[in-house]
Amino acid sequence: MKNYFEKEYFDAAFAAIPASWREFAPTVGVILGSGWGQTLLDKPYAASIPYASIPGYGASTVVGHAGEMRLIDTGRSRVIAFCGRRHFYEGEGWGPVVMPIELMRRLGVRSVLLTNAAGAVNPALNPGDMLVIRDHVNTTGRNPLQGPVFPGWGTRFPDQSEVYSKELGDRMQMVAKRLGIRLPDGIYAFTSGPCFETPAEIRAYGIWGVDAVGMSTVPEAIVANAIGMKIVAMSCITNMAAGIAGQRLCHEEVLEATAAAAPRMGALVAAAMDEVF
Ligand code: HPA
Repeated sequence: MKNYFEKEYFDAAFAAIPASWREFAPTVGVILGSGWGQTLLDKPYAASIPYASIPGYGASTVVGHAGEMRLIDTGRSRVIAFCGRRHFYEGEGWGPVVMPIELMRRLGVRSVLLTNAAGAVNPALNPGDMLVIRDHVNTTGRNPLQGPVFPGWGTRFPDQSEVYSKELGDRMQMVAKRLGIRLPDGIYAFTSGPCFETPAEIRAYGIWGVDAVGMSTVPEAIVANAIGMKIVAMSCITNMAAGIAGQRLCHEEVLEATAAAAPRMGALVAAAMDEVF
């Protein structure tokens, strides 16, 4: 497995996207992580493609991830939505993980909403809470930009002073407030997974100022930021992180918590598409 990309890898994937998708010209991209995919299930869409039919992308191997991209015209935005994501821990390298961002770039998307499920490191958060990610900590020492500079992905050393758009994050919170949904700021730590963290790791992340921890989102944000896209990201808290509440962690608990939060997640995703970008 190569840990960097050749242009042909994405060329082959992009060639599998019908010309009508280019003509649709989406301007907003949405990646829906664990549990968030259900927020679009009842929304009408113009077209869909399963990830499995895109070379180099492949079906998500994670329960709860649909693995389908959809075009949605909300009347206010033309959106490409990725329902389900590929993760680094699935073991196929960065290619499938950052595939949605490169497909978006080639389609002309300039703004992206990233969503995930996360464990709460900050004890003031509770399962079912949502937060706007204002910054991140990459705990992995791995980075999808490692390797030769990829054409179209900015410079060798991209600035990361404002990965998550302050302006769009503020707007997201204003809209949430109007909808009566609590949406505090948060710092998100990315771990490679697939193990949940140890209590010692969670204590360390807490000292670093981390509010929530998860196994996704940061790779896509790193690439989208290098490209120059505007990014809004949100987490749904599904559990207290290891050692915080003393209970054992499991994926079923993650899925249950997102099911309970689904109506609020749906309202936020819809509002993001229509009012934030
Ligand atoms: N840790 C890492 N990833 C997660 C968690 C967690 O506690 N909950 C949901 N995704």
